[in-house]
Amino acid sequence: MTPALRRSLNRGVVDVWFSFTNDNRLKSAQKNYEEMLSQAEVLQYQQLKHVDNGWDYLVSRALLRTVLAEYCELSPQEIEFQVNDFGKPELSNSSVSSIIQFNTAHTSGLTVCVVTRDDAIGVDAECRAENPGILDVAEDYFSALELQALKSRDEAQQLDYFYRYWTLKEAYIKARGEGLSIPLHDFSVVLGDDGEFCEFVGPDAESWDFRLLGQNAEYTAGLSMNGHISALKFFHSVPLGAQSEQSAEDAFNQGPAPSGERRRHIG
Ligand SMILES: CC(C)(COP(=O)(O)OP(=O)(O)OC[C@H]1O[C@@H](n2cnc3c(N)ncnc32)[C@H](O)[C@@H]1OP(=O)(O)O)[C@@H](O)C(=O)NCCC(=O)NCCS
Repeated sequence: MTPALRRSLNRGVVDVWFSFTNDNRLKSAQKNYEEMLSQAEVLQYQQLKHVDNGWDYLVSRALLRTVLAEYCELSPQEIEFQVNDFGKPELSNSSVSSIIQFNTAHTSGLTVCVVTRDDAIGVDAECRAENPGILDVAEDYFSALELQALKSRDEAQQLDYFYRYWTLKEAYIKARGEGLSIPLHDFSVVLGDDGEFCEFVGPDAESWDFRLLGQNAEYTAGLSMNGHISALKFFHSVPLGAQSEQSAEDAFNQGPAPSGERRRHIG
C-alpha cells in the first residue's frame, strides 16, 4: 500500500512555500531554528555566518524542515536528507520519501521551497537587480534561440525577460538534479507574446512543464517539473509561526524593500 501524506497533495499540484528572510517575526524563533539543524547544517551555518548570509541559510533550512514536516509523520528536527552526486537534496528517512519531491532556492531576502508528489521538480528565484551586462551574461548561458528572442524584445523589457529565461533554465537544471553537467546551450525555453512559458525545446520535451512565478513582485521565480503542472498553491510562511495561502498575483510580494537590503547580481 502507498504510504499516506499527512498533508494532502494531488499529483500535478505544486505547493509553493516562501518566507521573507528580513521578516522581523523570524528573529524570536532563531533558537528554535538552530535546534532543527543537523550536524552538517550547523557546520554550513557557522561558515556562512562569517560571510553575512548565515541568517538566510538558517531561515531557508527552517522553512524546508517545517514544510516537509507538514507532509511527513516527522518533526522538523527528525527530517533527514541525502544528496545526490550533484548536491540535490532528497528526503531519506520518511515513509513518504519515495512520494515527496521538493526543491529550494534562495535569493536576497526571499527563500522558496516547492513540494509536489512523484515528479522531479526544480525551482529558482532571483531578485531582479538592475544589471547593465545582461546581454553579455545571456551570450554565455542562453541558447541561440533564447538569445535571439531576448534581443528581439524592447530594451525596456530585456531585464524582466532575462530573469524569466534564467530562472526557467535554472529550474530545469535543478529538477534534473545533475548540475552544470547539463549543457545550458542544448535546451531552450520559449516564451509567448504574453511572456509566459510556451514551449520547451530539449530532450524528452513533451514530459516537461514550466511556470513563471511572482512576477508582480521584485522577484522572478521559475518552476520546472517532469510532469504536467495542473495547479499551483502559494503559502507565505513564518516557520513555526503564521502561515497564509496567497493568490498567484500576491506571491512573493511584500511591498517596498527595507532600506539597506542587498541585491545580488547575476553574472
Ligand atoms: C545548486 C545550483 C543548482 C544552484 O545554485 P544557486 O543558484 O547558488 O542556489 P539556489 O538558491 O538556486 O539553490 C540552492 C538550493 O538548491 C538545492 N540544490 C543544491 N544542489 C542542487 C542540484 N544539483 N540540483 C537541484 N537542487 C540543488 C539545495 O537545496 C540548495 O539549498 P542550500 O544552499 O540550502 O543547500 C548550482 O548547481 C548551480 O550553480 N547551478 C547553475 C547556475 C547557472 O549557471 N545557471 C544558469 C541558468 S541560465
